[in-house]
Amino acid sequence: MSLGQPDFDLRDRSVMITGANRGLGAALCKTILQYSPKIIHAGYRSKAGASEDPRIRWCRLDILQSESITRAAASIGPIDLLINNAGVLSPTAADPAQETVNLRNMMDAHLFAPLKIINAFLPALKASPQPTVVNVVSMAAFANVPGADAYCISKTALHAATQGLRHKHPWMRCVGVYPGPTATDMTAGSNAVLADPMKSAANIVTGIFEGRASIFPDKAALAVESVVGDAVATLEQQFATLLSD
Ligand SMILES: NC(=O)c1ccc[n+]([C@@H]2O[C@H](COP(=O)([O-])OP(=O)(O)OC[C@H]3O[C@@H](n4cnc5c(N)ncnc54)[C@H](OP(=O)(O)O)[C@@H]3O)[C@@H](O)[C@H]2O)c1
Repeated sequence: MSLGQPDFDLRDRSVMITGANRGLGAALCKTILQYSPKIIHAGYRSKAGASEDPRIRWCRLDILQSESITRAAASIGPIDLLINNAGVLSPTAADPAQETVNLRNMMDAHLFAPLKIINAFLPALKASPQPTVVNVVSMAAFANVPGADAYCISKTALHAATQGLRHKHPWMRCVGVYPGPTATDMTAGSNAVLADPMKSAANIVTGIFEGRASIFPDKAALAVESVVGDAVATLEQQFATLLSD
């Protein structure tokens, strides 16, 4: 599904990325720098990343702290592109009480935080000629991965929220990114075949340029897209009119 406006241009644009100090967020920063942005507000929780490029402005933003979100949004001027990237993965806990805690934490990080951040940055996005929000979801939004149950639930919620945002804010492009296993700290010790984060970041940026609503940025993700991609896009369009019929 395309969101139109495939000529999205990063030149002279202002970008905000959460969790930009390492992993996929750092790869997205490096990739976006190749397209001459005006500034990248690079979010970090406690330790800024390594880049000293003058177009990177490190910005403290703990996505789990409401005051931190409010402060960051108040200190940053207009932006064109907001990327909700920060995330965590706690493996399924054997102890049900611990698993409930894990689920709460990941729902906070992957659902409530992105929604709060989007709301806080709406005024900053409204001035843009091509306001765009990108939520980094996961291919695990489409089926449970044993051992990562709470993570999958939280990413499924973010996927549904991303679809909802498209209808709630038709003036803004809302994009879901659905990576497969990728070589970052999050997958340390994994036996899965891992995608290269720089290649995934390049594919994500290309997908944004192409006006895609959903971006599957690596081989494993593309295999998922071949199973669910058209069906999910078709259902989203069909359900959009369900309650108004
Ligand atoms: N790697 C994969 O296989 C994979 C697959 C699908 C989707 N994803 C998604 O891709 C996104 C990036 O993950 P990654 O693979 O790059 O993981 P990563 O290397 O573990 O990096 C996670 C990033 O999120 C930040 N973060 C976590 N909690 C935060 C908080 N409360 N406030 C601010 N920043 C916070 C981390 O900051 P700190 O340095 O402060 O911890 C770090 O910058 C996540 O949403 C993840 O779910 C990853």
